[in-house]
Amino acid sequence: MSLPKPLIIGNWKMHGLSAELETLVRALAKRHAETPKPGTLGICPPFTLLIPAKAVLQGSGILLGGQTCHAKGQGAFTGDISAAMLADAGCEIVLLGHSERRAGLGETDADVKAKAEATLSAGLTPVVCIGETEDQYVAGETLDVLGAQIDGSLPDGADAERLVVAYEPIWAIGTGRTPTMDEIAKVHAFIGERLAAAGVSGTPVLYGGSVKPDNAAAILALDGVDGVLVGGASLKVDDFFTIYAAGAGTAA
Ligand code: PGA
Repeated sequence: MSLPKPLIIGNWKMHGLSAELETLVRALAKRHAETPKPGTLGICPPFTLLIPAKAVLQGSGILLGGQTCHAKGQGAFTGDISAAMLADAGCEIVLLGHSERRAGLGETDADVKAKAEATLSAGLTPVVCIGETEDQYVAGETLDVLGAQIDGSLPDGADAERLVVAYEPIWAIGTGRTPTMDEIAKVHAFIGERLAAAGVSGTPVLYGGSVKPDNAAAILALDGVDGVLVGGASLKVDDFFTIYAAGAGTAA
């Protein structure tokens, strides 16, 4: 399954109660049905909302995704969730290696790789997140850091049709700050080359980190940017739909 570009994916993080099934999920499906755009629209709500969200999204064309998974298919892993469980709940994609999990929960590149392999085995598409810290950015180490993360996190047997990479500078997440457009374009060019060297040329590469309605069109217009991963702004239907519409080059 190759996902049509641009990919506009919402990462709800630890936000969302049942009430949001109406105010966010159904409202988004309604907007999408009224004014469909080219590309792929997807949301990654918390685990508790996946099954009811799938029911609301049925037939809408909007993808559902998980925010992580365990590397094993099943077993004695209290509190964890497997890729097969996410598939069973109706997910088609899984975010992996988000910096909040790498930093907060100690996920390593090897963990992300194992989870990505489990995701592929379950028939889902991994969205592998990579990004540098502010110190690394200031020290000019961004490309080295990203290169190592790509080499260490990509699943064996990766195939560009079933893989997405998201570049999220850690210092841009939730801060309202972003790299310059020139910096984003250069980093995406580098990631594209590195993915080609790894045999997965053409893998969609998303940008994430403070994507908002007012910067989405400029970011999405950059060469090498195949979509965006949106945190805070994905929790507001108008903002998220405006970002989606920006990807299609049309105003919402
Ligand atoms: P943000 O988050 O859009 O709120 O900066 C992006 C992310 O963490 O995926």
